[in-house]
Amino acid sequence: MTSSTQLSNRQFRLKTRPSGRVTKDNFDFVEEKIPELQKDQILVRTIYLSLDPTNRIWMSDMEQYLPPVQIGDVMRGLGIGKVVQSKNSKFKEGSYVSGVLGWQEYVVSEGRGAWPLTVLPKLPGLTLEIMAGAAGMTGLTAFFGLFEIGKPKEGETLVVSAAAGAVGSIVGQLGKISGMRVVGIAGGEEKCNWLRDELKFDAAVDYKSPNWKQQLEDATPDGIDINFENVGGEIMEAVYKRMNLHSRFVLCGLISGYNDTDDSKSRLSIGPALMKRIKIEGFIITDYVQKFQEAATKLIMWMVAGKIKHKETIIEGLDKAPEALNLLFDGGNIGKLLIKVSDP
Ligand SMILES: NC(=O)c1ccc[n+]([C@@H]2O[C@H](COP(=O)([O-])OP(=O)(O)OC[C@H]3O[C@@H](n4cnc5c(N)ncnc54)[C@H](OP(=O)(O)O)[C@@H]3O)[C@@H](O)[C@H]2O)c1
Repeated sequence: MTSSTQLSNRQFRLKTRPSGRVTKDNFDFVEEKIPELQKDQILVRTIYLSLDPTNRIWMSDMEQYLPPVQIGDVMRGLGIGKVVQSKNSKFKEGSYVSGVLGWQEYVVSEGRGAWPLTVLPKLPGLTLEIMAGAAGMTGLTAFFGLFEIGKPKEGETLVVSAAAGAVGSIVGQLGKISGMRVVGIAGGEEKCNWLRDELKFDAAVDYKSPNWKQQLEDATPDGIDINFENVGGEIMEAVYKRMNLHSRFVLCGLISGYNDTDDSKSRLSIGPALMKRIKIEGFIITDYVQKFQEAATKLIMWMVAGKIKHKETIIEGLDKAPEALNLLFDGGNIGKLLIKVSDP
């Protein structure tokens, strides 16, 4: 077996906080020697890195739900990796784990603490790509946002924005499983066709088309009972105007503003929330950590039964991470965006 000290680790360390879009120049891409493992430590080789809109938030020093990544630190990032060496009986060599691995090829960890690593189950059909997305943090975000806050009812109308993305595509399918009329908002014909034809959404609104507001009106003849908000800005305002009495507004994300320092694009007039008794609730997926396992089991069962389909956009090579993150802001991904760092 190769000793950890013979391996080197390439990693992205934050050099400057981005202003607007992220560039490679915001990072130092460095190579370091891996230290000898101590008692209870494991060495994990990164296989997939999950690229998430929140990576952009963590790079900034705006008010947020976690401390921002500090200048000089390895960029924080979720991922899936393989335990290649272990001095910890809870983690066997050869097992796969998920958690915060960082934008790097290897991580030395004790697997516990503020960022525990979870050993992935081995189940037929359950691929690492699924665990990194549809049955991982992405699927769980869709699950808890919709069921805990949205509280779907059969026959109601659900609208989800960034609908062809990682979270949105699962939200819509969970809405269909719940017997809802599901309308997705996405950029471009290819994405809208995928939502309608493959994921069986009832309607898809192409917000890049000049008549998208009319499309939204036509797609929601009975108004909107749940808005699953991923985008903010003009799309959010148009949806908000069509919300029904006692409707629910699940505030999951506001991606249209993450590259801006000014959040004025995502302001809503509060009056309609009073008049129509709209429940607006924000959430962060870590709020539900105690219930993750139960929800992941349900998601996997629906996937195995063919009730939830998933797609991944996979970019090869850790060195591509900074530029690839911008795909999320340009709509360059369908489904979950992953960086493949090494082979399983
Ligand atoms: N609250 C939580 O705990 C939590 C957890 C995970 C994710 N989130 C949030 O959920 C949302 C989706 O995340 P994700 O990981 O699933 O990403 P994603 O949807 O896979 O990718 C982002 C998508 O957003 C759309 N988009 C980007 N900028 C836009 C703009 N200005 N206007 C309209 N659409 C835009 C793009 O699709 P188009 O081609 O359709 O434009 C893009 O593909 C984000 O807001 C994220 O912050 C929240």
